[in-house]
Amino acid sequence: MKEGMLALISFLLIIFPTIFCKNELLFVQVVWRHGDRAPMSNYPTDSHNESTWPGGWGELTSVGMRQQYTLGKLLRQKYITSDPPFLSARYTPKEIYIRSTDVNRTIISAMSNLAGMFPAGEPGFDFPFGDRWPTHWTPIPVHTVPTDEDHVNLHL
Ligand SMILES: *[C@@H]1O[C@H](CO)[C@@H](O)[C@H](O)[C@H]1NC(C)=O
Ligand SMILES: *[C@@H]1O[C@H](CO)[C@@H](O)[C@H](O)[C@H]1NC(C)=O
Repeated sequence: MKEGMLALISFLLIIFPTIFCKNELLFVQVVWRHGDRAPMSNYPTDSHNESTWPGGWGELTSVGMRQQYTLGKLLRQKYITSDPPFLSARYTPKEIYIRSTDVNRTIISAMSNLAGMFPAGEPGFDFPFGDRWPTHWTPIPVHTVPTDEDHVNLHL
């Protein structure tokens, strides 16, 4: 094969896919761990007991909630306020599915994350009117299955 021919083929291989194949993002799967949590138990000489921790052993702390909220805001930048956007600005049930392990700290992590990801809900649509409702908090389902049936649980 002549050198010119090879150059032409390489050229076509580079140019054709860019012209004819539209690179389109169709599906995104994001996996993350829970935020900061209380210890699972204390050590023998520990002067602190479970009541030191607001939620008790192993529960998500308010620091953990903040971390997840921040991560949710980052996901919003990446997939919602991005150009082009991948998801609608407001929670849309047909676009997103959230799954957690059946543990308090991971469920609350998911909820805190979603509060950061969807802060732009509209009163009367995404949540009720009225000043007793938390500002712009859109309730979003977090699904789970019992631990012994959870085959995606990595036991983290
Ligand atoms: C935990 O420690 C506090 C203060 O040190 C004490 O008042 C409380 O009774 C303790 N709770 C338990 C469950 O041991
Ligand atoms: C979660 O919270 C419940 C009470 O709502 C409690 O009984 C349970 O021990 C907690 N722990 C886990 C791992 O979910």
